[in-house]
Amino acid sequence: MKTIIEPFKIKSVEPIRFTTREERSELLKKAGYNTFMLHADDVLIDLLTDSGTSAMSSMQWAGIMQGDESYAGSKSFYRFEDVVKKITGLKYIIPTHQGRASEKILFFVVGGEGKYIPNNTHFDTTRANIEFTNAEAVDLLNEEGKHPEIRAPFKGNMDIEKLESFIKEKGKENIPLCMITVTNNSGGGQPVSMQNIREAKEVLKKYGIPLFLDACRFAENAYFIKKREKGYQDKTLLEIAQEMFSYADGATMSAKKDGLANIGGFLAMNDDELAMKCRNLLIVTEGFTTYGGLAGRDLEAVAQGLEEVLDEHYLQYRIRSVEYLGEKLVSAGVPIIEPPGGHAIYIDAKRFLPNIPQEQFPGQSIVCSLYIEGGIRAVEIGSVMFGKYDKNGQLIPPPMELVRLAIPRRVYTQSHIDYVLEVLLEVYKKRGSLKGYKITYQAPMLRHFTAQFEEIGRDAK
Ligand SMILES: Cc1ncc(COP(=O)(O)O)c(C=O)c1O
Repeated sequence: MKTIIEPFKIKSVEPIRFTTREERSELLKKAGYNTFMLHADDVLIDLLTDSGTSAMSSMQWAGIMQGDESYAGSKSFYRFEDVVKKITGLKYIIPTHQGRASEKILFFVVGGEGKYIPNNTHFDTTRANIEFTNAEAVDLLNEEGKHPEIRAPFKGNMDIEKLESFIKEKGKENIPLCMITVTNNSGGGQPVSMQNIREAKEVLKKYGIPLFLDACRFAENAYFIKKREKGYQDKTLLEIAQEMFSYADGATMSAKKDGLANIGGFLAMNDDELAMKCRNLLIVTEGFTTYGGLAGRDLEAVAQGLEEVLDEHYLQYRIRSVEYLGEKLVSAGVPIIEPPGGHAIYIDAKRFLPNIPQEQFPGQSIVCSLYIEGGIRAVEIGSVMFGKYDKNGQLIPPPMELVRLAIPRRVYTQSHIDYVLEVLLEVYKKRGSLKGYKITYQAPMLRHFTAQFEEIGRDAK
């Protein structure tokens, strides 16, 4: 059969609240034109993030009831550890409450002034946790990954030549580890090929630098490898994931993504001394080594989710629904990062709104219009999120101005996706009337979460 169906039946539903256009305009103004500030109940289709928003399976809910809440050595921890070890093959598995807690611990131990951490592209919390220690987070993405309009199978790949020259320039002693983010969230959810992970490892091995995977979407990455890379068609997704991790000396993970859970994560590694230091810090900041900021029931949900996420029917449905939305947008002329990544559609805001300069945040303008037009919540990944300023207060924009529509796992059906498409096409039709924005408040770090805006030409001059 040609039709790919949702590979699940729905046992429990959550009603969504409908609002009018006028209500939404008012609510968004009150939220300072920052969709993070909206009440979720005022959102019709929430594509803010795919993180922690998955629908859990009946088996995960059953696991919740079986959670062992012992402080030390709980049965749930050992189940969690077994599943993570089966997939990653890594020696030490340290549970954390989410991805950034793993990053905080890891970089507190290995970061610091004068240190450099290369990555294909750092996610914002990874970058923030590195910079918080005064180390430098460096992106070494392959050139094709920086061009939204280029279609290539593995646009998340690391630039291996640049990696080697970077190591020579900065000195291996100043690079405590290198990361690869699979899939590359900040660069459009684009996958990384097995060959690229292997080649990165070969270079790093020469210099004695460990490789860590930011493994949030390892299963989606494994699916792309199976579909797009020669030699992997007959392998199972578990085998592919195992091979990806076989090149890694460690990993950070937010189980809120490919763990199919609402909370959870881990930090994993092979190095004895590093593990000891991280575990000691975990005890101070998260909790004992067998729960790390999670309840036993959360560990059960993550363990079960990690088993389910490598199901081929699930990944086929997931990747196809994102691809379907992408295909329809491209055929209507809407500029997006092509081909669509695994977990989200990324609109290329520079091409969508060429009339709005980067200083006026074209991505934010699209985000606001999507909410007003159809109650859809998306997120800007551009100058609001990553913009820096020189000493004259001039914006140093990031290479891309994107709007991300992240699709929660197992939450929305085909008709929800069709509705999103309809709203997007409507906003695209009206793009000539969209206005730029000006920031009126910003926090010193991760400003996008709490920034306040005014619409230029309406609220602001
Ligand atoms: C690639 C990547 N790394 C790290 C994180 C941080 O994970 P968490 O939100 O669980 O702290 C995220 C979250 O979106 C991510 O996408």
